[in-house]
Amino acid sequence: MDTNRITDIGTKGVRAFSEADSEAALRDVEIRFLGRKSELTGMLRGLRDLSPEEKRTVGPLVQGVRSSLAEAFATARDRVAREGRDWEAERIDVTVPGADDPLGHLHPITSMTGEISDIFLRLGFEIAEGPELETEFYNFDALNVPADHPARDMQDTFWIESDGLDARYLLRTHTSPVQVRYMETHTPPFRIVAPGRVFRNESTDATHEHTFHQFESLVVGETGDVTVGHFKHLAETFFAEFFGHKVGVRLRPSYFPFVEPGFEFDISCVFCDGKGCPSCKGIGWIEVGGAGMVEQKVFEAAGYPRGKYQGFAWGFGLERLAMMKHRIPDARLFMSGDLRFIRQF
Ligand code: FA5
Repeated sequence: MDTNRITDIGTKGVRAFSEADSEAALRDVEIRFLGRKSELTGMLRGLRDLSPEEKRTVGPLVQGVRSSLAEAFATARDRVAREGRDWEAERIDVTVPGADDPLGHLHPITSMTGEISDIFLRLGFEIAEGPELETEFYNFDALNVPADHPARDMQDTFWIESDGLDARYLLRTHTSPVQVRYMETHTPPFRIVAPGRVFRNESTDATHEHTFHQFESLVVGETGDVTVGHFKHLAETFFAEFFGHKVGVRLRPSYFPFVEPGFEFDISCVFCDGKGCPSCKGIGWIEVGGAGMVEQKVFEAAGYPRGKYQGFAWGFGLERLAMMKHRIPDARLFMSGDLRFIRQF
């Protein structure tokens, strides 16, 4: 094997690597000097046919040239990578203001649920919860609404196919079932509030949605301790806090099977301050919920002895209140998923 030729390959190769000025050129030089079919690789392969003596002298020479070429290649590769970069394009101006990272926010129903819960917490109430997938027992029977009672038709119900299940299931039509669930595990006196999503299988319009939210509240003490007067005062306090100014509250006799006496309650129209306007249809009052003294049958369903306790319950629709506070014309906007609406809050 010609030792001059070997050193010659080494010299030429190192020069070729140092002159390569692009990735493509570098690849060509690599193939030419280090590739499988290159002269040097052929020589390395030919070493095995040499006599032991020749191997001893030529072997280290070929290996040495091969490692200097490998080194020259590595150096050239780093250099080409460095030179090939567009440093100007990569320049970072650390004085440029940061890109705006848009922040999401809570859905108005969620933030208002928090706002209302906070008012009740300040008034000494505890928050209670119940399931949205409820049984017929808690949604109706325990609330003194028997199956054959016309009152059951007052709330159109989404029934769940319950064949083979332990009970008949439905999507709760109101938050009142939480009253019974809470009372089963607690003894009066207590004050609770239960916010939650409810469902009604009814046709929708500007003030009716099939999925909406209610706030249920229940205050119970020993008989004689809790009266309708307490309810009226609580409602006035709550609405003044919620709207940020005094609001009139009036009760009208009404019927709910789970209270006796029962009321619907109105607040003075927040748009015209009770003078009469299109929003309150000229009446000066707007209906916001139902209320009443808890029917003893409900206490009994929860396991309390008849006559020992007395209390009031009330429930109102969150969307209706939100509509008044923020002048929202249609209850269906809340669940519409329309971001133009949501982003205003
Ligand atoms: C009830 O649901 C009773 N559980 C309230 C109650 C609680 C009475 C405790 C007595 C004691 P009602 O069906 O009227 O009552 O609904 C209460 C409120 O929910 C209404 O005043 C209204 O503000 C709201 N609401 C009712 N239906 C809808 C609907 N489809 N869309 C939006 N809000 C509604």
